[in-house]
Amino acid sequence: MAKLHISFVCQSCGATSQRWQGRCDSCGGWNTIAEESAAPRIGARKGRVFGLSSLKASGEPVPPRRTTGIGEFDRVAGGGFVPGSVLLLGGEPGIGKSTLLIQACAKLAASERRVVYISGEEAVDQIRLRALRLGLAAAPCELAAETSVEDIVETLSHGKRPSLVVIDSIQTMWTGLIESAPGTVGQVRGAAQALIRFAKTTGAAVILVGHVTKDGQIAGPRVVEHMVDAVMSFEGECGRSFRILRAVKNRFGPTDEIGVFEMTGSGLAEVTNPSELFLSSRDSTAPGAAVFAGMEGTRPLLVEIQALVAPSPPGTPRRAVVGWDNARLAMVLAVLEAHVGIKLGQYDIYLNVAGGLRVSEPAADLAAAAALVSSLSGQSLAAGMVLFGEIALSGAIRPVPHGLARLKEAAKLGFSHATIPQGAQENVTIAASGLTVCGCAHISALVANMKFNRSKGSDP
Ligand code: TYD
Ligand code: MG
Repeated sequence: MAKLHISFVCQSCGATSQRWQGRCDSCGGWNTIAEESAAPRIGARKGRVFGLSSLKASGEPVPPRRTTGIGEFDRVAGGGFVPGSVLLLGGEPGIGKSTLLIQACAKLAASERRVVYISGEEAVDQIRLRALRLGLAAAPCELAAETSVEDIVETLSHGKRPSLVVIDSIQTMWTGLIESAPGTVGQVRGAAQALIRFAKTTGAAVILVGHVTKDGQIAGPRVVEHMVDAVMSFEGECGRSFRILRAVKNRFGPTDEIGVFEMTGSGLAEVTNPSELFLSSRDSTAPGAAVFAGMEGTRPLLVEIQALVAPSPPGTPRRAVVGWDNARLAMVLAVLEAHVGIKLGQYDIYLNVAGGLRVSEPAADLAAAAALVSSLSGQSLAAGMVLFGEIALSGAIRPVPHGLARLKEAAKLGFSHATIPQGAQENVTIAASGLTVCGCAHISALVANMKFNRSKGSDP
């Protein structure tokens, strides 16, 4: 019998080592290393000559992307799924991955394509029951409860080529080529490899579901991330009904798009105007809140940035940030201190992007600064005002792209004023937005315009 190849693989990060050890050298995790054995390596063989093709278009039509008809999903995927591509959808258990995918399958199957949904977690009857609740029971989508990838690939190779195959989830799949238990890194990687090969050879789009562990890593499937064409994460806050679909990696599309859904009694509903949702429960008279006119990919999105500046007990003051970058907060605080003389060293500072959204644009600097100053002064910002602009270390407010789109979205939602960087390139067309626009060249101008009570902010 051929000798089995034994290796020790960290179940958290996928690093391999030659011997067992208590702590992984790569990720530092304790007790994460497990013994795994792979099938005997294929002995060295002479290479085979293959044909090379030209980069120039062959004249054959490129197969079109497959759109599910769920606009929010298709947009995040870059305008639909590319045939032969593999997508990994990650998210915490219970967030709604299976619900989203069964809805997508049912919609796609309605356009007379072969769509297969394979679950390793639920029985066929359970999937049917869910589809029934979602009003999708009549969709011609094929179902199976299977966990062996060899059986799945063999079954799908018969009959009409599938357009879309959903594998829910990759952690439950196993391949006979590897002798470790399902869910281990080796199995997840082996099963994913087989399914990726299936996608590339048949042209079917494959979606792999991956459960994410508490610390935000796609457990096991993290080792699959580099193998697949696109990685999406499905996120949401406990107790809140909306969900955000975000592209983390996409070989065939942008990664800055988000899709917004709301979990309802009858499945996931698309939210086509998320700004309304994120601003719905806001109190515009409370100090410490500023509305940021942001962009998520190609779509403008208004969000509220909330700040709380509170006197700190002796010791190191707290800086807590949710939904924004810690380092950017530190920078904005330093600029406020250096260029406006607002000393915040003896205050605890909390900053929160409302609605569980994560903002990564530097354009949020101005709104964050306004929220901080408003909280410190106890004065609320003018109702109906939005802000955007990047703050430089010199205190200058720098222009950001898509000014007009941001302003138009604000006008659409009933905002009347905007504070934006002075000299934005789109100044000429900004009149078209219908807002009263105030250009701001320096952070000190923003603070002066807010009639900030200087005596409270100075070193107490
Ligand atoms: P599910 O899709 O099973 O999550 P995942 O596959 O990511 O583990 O979603 C389960 C949750 O969604 C569950 O808490 C119930 C809720 N849900 C609804 O609120 N409405 C619905 O119509 C459905 C089908 C589920
Ligand atoms: Mg599920």
